[in-house]
Amino acid sequence: MSAMTPSLERTTLPSGPDLGGGPLGMIRAVQTFSSPLQAMTDFHDQYGDTFTLSVSGINIVVFARPEHLHAVMVEHAASFYKDADYTDPDRGLARFVGQGLLTSDGAPWKRHRKLVAPALHARRIMAYADTMSEYSDAMLRDWRSGERLDIAHEMMNLTIRIVAKSLFDVDMHGALAEPIFNAMREIQEMQGGGGWQGLLPTWVPTPSELRRRKALREMDELVYAIIAERKASGQDHGDLLSMLVAARDEDGQPMSDRQIRDEAVTLFLAGHETTANALNWTFTLLARNPEAEAKLHEELDRVLGGRLPTLADLEHLPYTERVVKEAMRLYPPAWSVGRVAIEDVQIGEYFLPKGTRAALHIYHVHHSPALWDNPEAFDPDRFSPEREASVPRYAYIPFGGGPRVCIGNHFAMMEAKLILATVASRFILRLNPGQTVEMDAGITLNPKGGLPMTVTARH
Ligand code: HEM
Repeated sequence: MSAMTPSLERTTLPSGPDLGGGPLGMIRAVQTFSSPLQAMTDFHDQYGDTFTLSVSGINIVVFARPEHLHAVMVEHAASFYKDADYTDPDRGLARFVGQGLLTSDGAPWKRHRKLVAPALHARRIMAYADTMSEYSDAMLRDWRSGERLDIAHEMMNLTIRIVAKSLFDVDMHGALAEPIFNAMREIQEMQGGGGWQGLLPTWVPTPSELRRRKALREMDELVYAIIAERKASGQDHGDLLSMLVAARDEDGQPMSDRQIRDEAVTLFLAGHETTANALNWTFTLLARNPEAEAKLHEELDRVLGGRLPTLADLEHLPYTERVVKEAMRLYPPAWSVGRVAIEDVQIGEYFLPKGTRAALHIYHVHHSPALWDNPEAFDPDRFSPEREASVPRYAYIPFGGGPRVCIGNHFAMMEAKLILATVASRFILRLNPGQTVEMDAGITLNPKGGLPMTVTARH
């Protein structure tokens, strides 16, 4: 959509907070982005669903209405690229994941998407179901009834092992996973603004910068070793890694090790933390809502009778699915996604000149009283077939939408249901009386400081 299109209504951007420029503006920006969800919720309360946040002269238009999200993600998808939080090679996600699917745009993105899609296709992922249940079962074998565990750590460990095994045929147990975990933690911290050190250029060797570089180096060593091993073996494992190694472009050229590494790290990142967080919030909500928990237990006991869930069981576990969906409504793991307009574009009543950034607030759409009855209540039956049919379009979009919709959405749903079914069949997870679980919003929505819970065997 070009600026020349005569039908564009050139209205101004929505009003909103201006953090100002100069050193003071930067300090305000660091403060704001050190707890971004809280800050955005405050702005949202003050300015409404749509506002412009100005930071050092950069305009970020925040959208939280389904029709605006649909316009950006679908109708005008070609007018937007991912924003600098993803693509900036110095401070964005790209510093860690390079030019993988999450952080690339245009023709390279299209090529990668085509390459990765078959490995995550609904039919292909059925083969991963057994890994999901068996790895969950292995985790539970280490749990002792009555002990207190950091469930966030358990879920991260489990989901990263499942991605590694499913997509790269690597069993990443114990210390082997450490470099990936460390790097993922650094990414979270960096995306959270990095405190006052976030004000400094990245060539300044602050302690956090040095730690970040070390984490990146160690993760790369591990990932390049996995790629080299696969290339040396010459074997086709029928997984994503084999597909990436065998891929050729139009000129018959293979992907470079760097390109394969970028895609692998992207999938490690995108493919584990989101699902782990969906489960963290699911267990938190179940602990706070005994009635829903009892309904879940009834379904699991009736259908599974204590055995491990299989792919075939999933269609008989509708309430399990509703619990996961409702947890992702209240706590969407990808709570906000960002874009930048690469040309002038009209979104609803707003005209966004080229270069304007857009933040799509999935969290606030999911909590809107205009779209949901009693939006703060945990009510899995909102996703019963009758009630789900009346949810407005784009009012529920935990996986985004349009051409950049989550490529792992089927994988993630299947995984979350199988893990929940396995764990909740065998254990009850409890918070301490009065224990609060705060949100820590980086790229994904984490429980702040981990999720200590007491696990008690059910049978
Ligand atoms: C509950 C779990 C998950 C949630 C809530 C989630 C959410 C999302 C969202 C909202 C997007 C769109 C971002 C945007 O529009 O900018 C996205 C993209 C993506 N997701 Fe997921 N995701 C989950 C699990 C996974 C898994 C398991 C994988 C891989 C195995 C994965 C891989 C990706 C990739 C590669 C992209 C980028 C796609 C592209 O730009 O073409 N995600 N995800």
